[in-house]
Amino acid sequence: MNPDLYEAALAWISGLFREDATGHDVHHTLRVYRTAMRLAEEEDADRELTGLAAMLHDADDPKLFGTGEGLPNARSFMAEHGIPAETAELVCTIIGEVSFSKNGSRRPSTLEGKVVQDADRLDAIGAVGIARTFAFGGSRGQAIHDPAAETGTSVAHFHEKLLKLWDLMNTDGAKRIAEGRHRFMEEFLDEFMREWDGSE
Ligand code: ADP
Ligand code: NI
Repeated sequence: MNPDLYEAALAWISGLFREDATGHDVHHTLRVYRTAMRLAEEEDADRELTGLAAMLHDADDPKLFGTGEGLPNARSFMAEHGIPAETAELVCTIIGEVSFSKNGSRRPSTLEGKVVQDADRLDAIGAVGIARTFAFGGSRGQAIHDPAAETGTSVAHFHEKLLKLWDLMNTDGAKRIAEGRHRFMEEFLDEFMREWDGSE
């Protein structure tokens, strides 16, 4: 990605996510960007599309901004920075295909979408993924764990989503990284359950 555009995107997303305490802060976006660029190299995906889509992938997340449909934040950033309309359209298609909640296990139609989706999912698992999950749960007033509840707690979210992501990675590079992170989450949950009732 061209350095001026990268700097502009960094400054813009830093402002956008300044107040975030849900695990969708600027550091999340930067990790997704770096991971996506590495995967793009391995897969020979288009670097400009991958970089823009990664940097802008959460800029219209309906959970965070209530913008959603039509991706107005991402579009206005690209328009202001002279991104050609066709490129902006492609970036919006890629971003629209990245989300787990919207797309479930449907695969993105583009290679760049696959790469950015993998990078976003890799940041949802492993040690950082664990931290983000409890931060998100806390921000929504959700309990850490409730043995009687199969849904609605942060621990339940591991079973509903996070432990499934390993198997849903699109690229070989992401699968390799996901393996260790998946195992780490399983170990974390085992230890969590050993400690949970205070009888140890
Ligand atoms: P996507 O955009 O792929 O649908 P989300 O933005 O919903 O993914 O989730 C991003 C991260 O936010 C998750 O990996 C998790 O850490 C956290 N998160 C989302 N929903 C929940 C939830 N119900 N409980 C705990 N954490 C959640
Ligand atoms: Ni994200």
